[in-house]
Order: sequence, then structure tokens, then C-alpha cells
Amino acid sequence: MQNLDWSNLSFKYRKTDAIIVSYYRDGEWSAPAVTKDFNFSFSAFAGVFHYANACFEGLKAFRGADGKLRMFRPDQNAKRIQDSGGYLDMATPSEEMFIEMCAMCVKENIDFVPPYGYGASLYIRPVLIGMNPQLGIASSKEVVFAVMCAPVGTYSGAASLSTGTAVLSRNYDRAAPNGTGHFKIAANYATSLHPYNLSHKLGYRELLYLDPAQKKYIDEFGSSNFLAIKGDTYVTPLSDSVLPSITNKSLQQAALDLGYKVEKRRVPVEELAEFDEVNACGTAVFITPIGSIDDKPTLESDTITKTYTFGDPSKVGPVSEKLYKYLRGIQDGTVEDTHNWCYFL
Ligand SMILES: Cc1ncc(COP(=O)(O)O)c(C=O)c1O
Repeated sequence: MQNLDWSNLSFKYRKTDAIIVSYYRDGEWSAPAVTKDFNFSFSAFAGVFHYANACFEGLKAFRGADGKLRMFRPDQNAKRIQDSGGYLDMATPSEEMFIEMCAMCVKENIDFVPPYGYGASLYIRPVLIGMNPQLGIASSKEVVFAVMCAPVGTYSGAASLSTGTAVLSRNYDRAAPNGTGHFKIAANYATSLHPYNLSHKLGYRELLYLDPAQKKYIDEFGSSNFLAIKGDTYVTPLSDSVLPSITNKSLQQAALDLGYKVEKRRVPVEELAEFDEVNACGTAVFITPIGSIDDKPTLESDTITKTYTFGDPSKVGPVSEKLYKYLRGIQDGTVEDTHNWCYFL
């Protein structure tokens, strides 16, 4: 086991022992290989450098209270990279190959899987990159699929379940109507860097996007879905431009398991005034409580039109905390995994 400060990892690059790679050329994938060389060598004309021919995934592996290693729902990430890569018209790994390479990556970096009890995990990052030289705009015929990882704590580096603030994005969209918001393609993240940086400079932890067509409804945060609690109901936006989050889907089931109602529907911005609890949810942020959301005419504006607060804005809400403990318990092996979400290594 590595000698790391497991309780203070946050979410940042840290070199591990190995990555796993497979190359798609002439219609077939090479056998997945373990390599200690973290550098790729391909043409400066590769599609990824010019036209963002790339998509990726994010999932986690946990060392449980029982000492067993679990990956959380890797089959779902496999399906999503097939959707994302399919949209880019690139070759994609089969579900079997995807899971095999993720498992290889965890095993090759086993000393970096955090011990149980620190709220930390091993973040697994599969990427699909178009690498053949090209000049015109075209999908890549040659692709590298690589799986890498890093031990992580909370996304912001703050304590688990500490509340953060958010701001509405009225003058920037992360996705277009009929665009690619529901895929995990690299281009989506490049387009959201500027408003992301701006919101962070202003001191907000999260930036909350609205539906790009009408700007009337809540979409999602920059790297996570939106979930709210209203009485005994879990509310999350139904929208074509948000990423179908595996965490959100799992939390909806968790909410039903715990006896709450679930509503997946359009969420008008004004409804923010009616929510008891609001969270960002996703693999990297897990459940991050949002204490308040500012509404501004533009991110650059000095005017705050309205501030929505949820319960005690300095504390995680009781339902969110229950959901957190339940799902984290499944990942840690302390709560029964009745839906068979964990993949044992
Ligand atoms: C834009 C966006 N929304 C939502 C999520 C959460 O998805 P998941 O729960 O599958 O990690 C992510 C992270 O993957 C994301 O980048």
C-alpha cells in the first residue's frame, strides 16, 4: 500500500504505476496491454488535437470494510462510452473489453486503492482518442482506448458533505439544443471551461446550467447532475441536454428503496424557492450539498437578482445524508447490494 495522506487526496492528477492500452487499427483491437509509459506517440495531425475526436468515462473502485475490491456499475460506463464514441463514429470497446481493462487497471495499481474508512476511492478514467493523421474534418479510423486511474478524495478537497454555493449560468450554455450534452465527449468540457473558471474565480463551487433552448428549466451542474428534495420527493430534471448520470440513476433507485418518491421531470427555475435540499451528484462529486444558489443577469454582472437557500445552508440536509450513507454503504460493502451494482475484483 502506498504511504499517502488518504484523508486529504481531493481530486487531482497523481501518477500511479501503470495504464492499460488497446489500439484499434485495420478493423480490430489489439490485446489490452499494461504499460508504465504514460505518454502516447501519434501524429500532430491526429483528429483529437484539431476536432476533439475523443470521449471518456469516470468510475470508481472501492476497498470495502470487508477488504474486498469493488467497482461501481462499470457496465453502465461501458454502455455510455459506446454511446459517446458511437456519436463520434469511432470504434468503441465491447462491454466485456471495457470492464476487463478497468479491472486490469485497478489490479495493476492496487497499492493506490485507498484503505476503507477515509472516504477516498480509486477514480478510473477510460478515454477513447482518435489518433490517425487527417486534415479535413472526419471521424477517426484509428483509435486508442486507454484506462488510467488516480486515488481521489472529494472533488473540491473540502470535507465530505460540506455545503458549497452555486450560481446560475444565464449567459453561458454547456450544451446546445439538439446538441451533445447527453454524451460524455471531450468537446463538451472544453466549451464549458471559460464559465467554469469564471464561476470559481467568483468563489462558487458549482455552476448550474439552464436548458439551452428556453432558459426556463434547470439542466445540470458543469460536471454533475442536479437533485433536489422537496418533502418526501426526490426531484431531478428530465432534459435531453444533460448527461445521463449513473450516480443519479442509482440515487433515484436508492430513494425508492428508502421509501421516498422520485420525480424526473422539467424543473422550472422558480421552483428552486420550494426545495428543502439541493445537491450536485456524480461519480467525482458523489453527493455534494448546495446550500445556496445565486441568480445573476450574467456571470460577469455585479448584481445578484436573487439568492435561493435550502434548509440550513451550512449543513447537509437529512434526506441527502441518508442517501449518501446508503449508496456509499453499498460501495463500501456495509449496506446490502440488493441491485447487484458492485463488480468484485
Ligand atoms: C456533465 C456531467 N454531468 C453529470 C455527471 C455525473 O455522471 P456520473 O454519475 O455517471 O458520473 C458528470 C460526470 O461524469 C458530468 O461530467
